[in-house]
Amino acid sequence: MSTRGRLLVLWNQVEEDVYEHYREEGPRALPWDPNRVAPDVGTVKEEMDALVAGLREARFRVDVVNVEDDIDRLFSAIRFYRPDAVFNLIEYFRDDPMQEAYVAGLYEMMGVSYTGNRPITLATCQNKYRTKLLLEAAGLPTAEFFLATRSPVPADHGLEFPLIVKPAFEDASGGIEPDSVVLDQVGLAARVAHVLSDFGTPALVEEYIEGREIHAAILGNRPSEVLPLFEMEFDQSAADDGEWKPQIISFRAKWDPYHKDFYSMDAVVPPRDLDPIVEGYIREVAVGAFQAVRGRDYARIDMRVDPDGQPFILEINPNPDLVDGAAYAMCARAGGRSYPETVAAIADLAVARSRRLGKPGEAAGVPSDQLLREHLERRGGPAPAPATRGAASGASAAAGVSGSAGVSGSAGATGPNGPGGATGPTGSTGT
Ligand SMILES: Nc1ncnc2c1ncn2[C@@H]1O[C@H](COP(=O)(O)OP(=O)(O)O)[C@@H](O)[C@H]1O
Ligand SMILES: [Mg+2]
Repeated sequence: MSTRGRLLVLWNQVEEDVYEHYREEGPRALPWDPNRVAPDVGTVKEEMDALVAGLREARFRVDVVNVEDDIDRLFSAIRFYRPDAVFNLIEYFRDDPMQEAYVAGLYEMMGVSYTGNRPITLATCQNKYRTKLLLEAAGLPTAEFFLATRSPVPADHGLEFPLIVKPAFEDASGGIEPDSVVLDQVGLAARVAHVLSDFGTPALVEEYIEGREIHAAILGNRPSEVLPLFEMEFDQSAADDGEWKPQIISFRAKWDPYHKDFYSMDAVVPPRDLDPIVEGYIREVAVGAFQAVRGRDYARIDMRVDPDGQPFILEINPNPDLVDGAAYAMCARAGGRSYPETVAAIADLAVARSRRLGKPGEAAGVPSDQLLREHLERRGGPAPAPATRGAASGASAAAGVSGSAGVSGSAGATGPNGPGGATGPTGSTGT
């Protein structure tokens, strides 16, 4: 069976998985309903295994390395496996989401093709305020906003309450709670002070858009395809006690299976009864947003759509969650792509880029001792040499891996054409 390409899936996890921890504690009844237990939520490792299985089913040859916050491990893995492309699942490094962009920068500098968005896009979208400035400049709709960098907040901001206050540089709903929505200047001042002190970032203040929550998943480049839209429907019963409550996807609603809000929303693809004209506009706005941040390969654009059918972009998620069952995969499935086909379509884009660009100078694949041990363990025997491609540099990759003793070989960790002539993982220079 011919292979569709060789991939190296890189991910990064160091700490114990919180869902693993829940599982060890055993099933726990929901505090408000003793007859129900919280559902089992997949661990990051399990989700990643499913993605890898999908890629393999789609005929990719796949190796997987958890880089464990170790930059040498990352370099070493790429040089050892020399994939056609890295399937990039690294979202943070040393607990710092900003480093997501730097990791992509390392791939760039090593000359290895990789899936998803480039550093400029990752860094831009990490900052919701800067993203909104760009959207505004591009003439795209986003809620009125300002950046609060200190307390007290001046009262002449000109925005209409209710407002929502977010940490300007967090993602995955960090710092988004029902209390983020404020109804007056006193509430605003308190919430901004909270964000400044607890998150240590300025606060993005924007008008709260009452309306439907619709996300658009994007796939591909020139042209970029908008997959069937996703809607998060909110449980109306929560609002039926007469009191106005904001309807938002809060941190807990998204991640905490022991919190009531986790059960207060329903993901629906495609949205019910969406006016085709409104849908067309939403799709256009989504592609415009993707282009405004120079997006590549895939992204998810989160929007609210007011009762008049006017969409407002909340944020752009480059490299959104690809877990089977999360929004992106749901949209792709509704568009006729199985999960394996969805992740494979993303991998294809990176592999095609690598073929177009040609391979960068071959680095000899000298793995770290640890990486080699793991590789041997997985393969259950002596490691086969990674395929050599093109005019290999002097030191053959095979020499480095044919026996565990081989790793000590300082025989040019970086070949003459090594990536950027950088210092190799073993410390030998490329010159
Ligand atoms: N201006 C807004 N109007 C209404 N709801 C909002 C607004 N901004 C954010 N929200 C709600 O908060 C959620 C999270 O905000 P978002 O900006 O997407 O950040 P993240 O997903 O990174 O936490 C949104 O999905 C939405 O439910
Ligand atoms: Mg969001």
